[in-house]
Amino acid sequence: MPLSRRNFLRIAGSSAIILPATACTTGPDTARQPWQHAGQYQDPMRRALSYALLAPNPHNRQPWIVDLHDESDATLYVDLDHLLPQTDPYSRQITIGLGCFVEQFRLAAQAYGFRPDIIPFPDGYDDFQLDKRPVAHLRLSSMGRPAPSPEFSLITRRRTNRNLYLERTPAHLALKAITQGLGNHVTCGFTNNTDRVASLRELAVTASNIEFDTPRTYMESVDVMRIGARENNKNPDGIALEGPLKETLHRLGILTRKSLSDMNSSIFRTGREDYAKGIQSARAFVWLSTPTNTRLDQIQAGAAYLRLNLKATGARMAMHPLSQALQEYSEMQEPLKRIHQLLDVKVGSRVQMFARIGYAKSVAPAPRWPLEAKIKPV
Ligand SMILES: Cc1cc2nc3c(=O)[nH]c(=O)nc-3n(C[C@H](O)[C@H](O)[C@H](O)COP(=O)(O)O)c2cc1C
Repeated sequence: MPLSRRNFLRIAGSSAIILPATACTTGPDTARQPWQHAGQYQDPMRRALSYALLAPNPHNRQPWIVDLHDESDATLYVDLDHLLPQTDPYSRQITIGLGCFVEQFRLAAQAYGFRPDIIPFPDGYDDFQLDKRPVAHLRLSSMGRPAPSPEFSLITRRRTNRNLYLERTPAHLALKAITQGLGNHVTCGFTNNTDRVASLRELAVTASNIEFDTPRTYMESVDVMRIGARENNKNPDGIALEGPLKETLHRLGILTRKSLSDMNSSIFRTGREDYAKGIQSARAFVWLSTPTNTRLDQIQAGAAYLRLNLKATGARMAMHPLSQALQEYSEMQEPLKRIHQLLDVKVGSRVQMFARIGYAKSVAPAPRWPLEAKIKPV
């Protein structure tokens, strides 16, 4: 019996717009090679950077450029062509991603016996927009002996997991253990309380639907979607739509940039519904807040998020940030206010990250550009 378009969509089931990456891809998987190449560099700076670029970052835009001065000295810049102006108008999330990058650099440097001196925004910063000034100055000096932290060994196993989460509620003690030791500046909260989780799920779905239903914010995602292995290998960044089913849907002309861009299409509806189903499967949430909302707060929030994600990996827990309700554009004003009330953070504090946490089937690593592509040409 030929497979109809409708049946395909039913079988696709999980073909959410922000789809879980699957382990199976066709062709040589160059998009994932940086995960294998991490650490395989002779000079200490490149070696630490090869881990840093595996950091989580919004929409996998990988907005980093490194000006390599020598084997122990470099300057990190933001790639101003890799921002998300619609969903992240002040580049708050982009800065958090850069904070994750810098923290992963720090963990890797120490693991190989180097003391990292990291000076964030050495020439100052603007809280409203990122500019050409350095994001951080990175310097390494020898400590003599390696000092690997438990988190370092988890770097290449860490993932963002967008699968449905299992009906197993993370225990209070497990959540407490992974949310401790994230630094003094950033406050971490969590809940597995049924009523509170239900209210937060509802808010997260409302916020996600706003992002999907607002053409300019939705299209910002579509613009960075990479459909199938070939596109992902060619442009190993953005939102990867991959796996045998998606490849087939793509070949049949069902999953295309055009169908994704059509907000009346079944592909659009499936994506919107599946993202909501992922949220609804949450049985616990974690969040991070800072006392103010400067660039330095955002960098520290990124460092704390990275450590939290690594600790969760060590505890075999899956995590999925849900940033929609934290975004600053006008349509999101109500959810932004509401999430601060529901999470009951200190007056004036800014919630920087909000994520579901639980247990789920594992996912493949997300694509990355190799280090060479991110080093500023001389
Ligand atoms: C600041 C920040 C915000 C993020 N927000 C979302 C989000 O709202 N939805 C989502 O699916 N992933 C979100 N992510 C996860 C990224 O999409 C993910 O890190 C990226 O695709 C790379 O994948 P990886 O974490 O598996 O390496 C966020 C990550 C960061 C650092």
